[in-house]
Amino acid sequence: MFITFEGIDGSGKSTQIANLKKRFEQKGTKVHVFRDPGGPVVSEKVRELLLNPNYDIDPVTELLLFSASRSQLMAENVLPHLEEGEVVILDRFFDSTTAYQGYGRNSVSIDEIHHLNNIASHQREPDLTIYMKLSLADAKKRMAKRKDRMELSGDDFYKKVIEGYDKLANQEKRFFTVDATKPASKVGDCIWEHVQQLYKNRNR
Ligand code: TMP
Repeated sequence: MFITFEGIDGSGKSTQIANLKKRFEQKGTKVHVFRDPGGPVVSEKVRELLLNPNYDIDPVTELLLFSASRSQLMAENVLPHLEEGEVVILDRFFDSTTAYQGYGRNSVSIDEIHHLNNIASHQREPDLTIYMKLSLADAKKRMAKRKDRMELSGDDFYKKVIEGYDKLANQEKRFFTVDATKPASKVGDCIWEHVQQLYKNRNR
């Protein structure tokens, strides 16, 4: 089973990913967690380039670097575990590219982004995407003081990113939206209930 988490910076993805991993492990299920961009050495190197505030990166170059990092993550880490029938959880995936580079940066058309996402993911879609929905005002209260290159992009950019996520959540059946302002334990219960339901339906 392939599960991804999405949402703007500060939406609480890391807490919920750790929680979901623990719940799977308590059931005796093998589960692997990776971050996108990141994972294999090559992808972590690309991540460093992408997030370093000292670099001025052209929007199309940015799009291609996120995609390159993802392709390596899929080839080296995600696909081999999925082939073994194990659970893989990703902190972000290609929906981040659609929201940030597509709707946020507006550098190339959404259709072109979808095409590139398909290539970079090696044609593997998530079975479930958990969208931690949060307003910009609430996100700003939670964001770290030291910002990476993406986080320095400004309010207008983030507003477009949120609009992009909301559109995806309406269009894509695999999306499950949770209210990220609710207490973490409540959000965790809600996610686990949904995952179990999906698991049952898949194995029926
Ligand atoms: P994070 O792993 O700490 O969330 O940082 C990754 C940053 O990169 C975050 O601001 C979202 C952004 N991002 C994109 O702009 N496009 C992408 O495709 C991905 C995966 C992340």
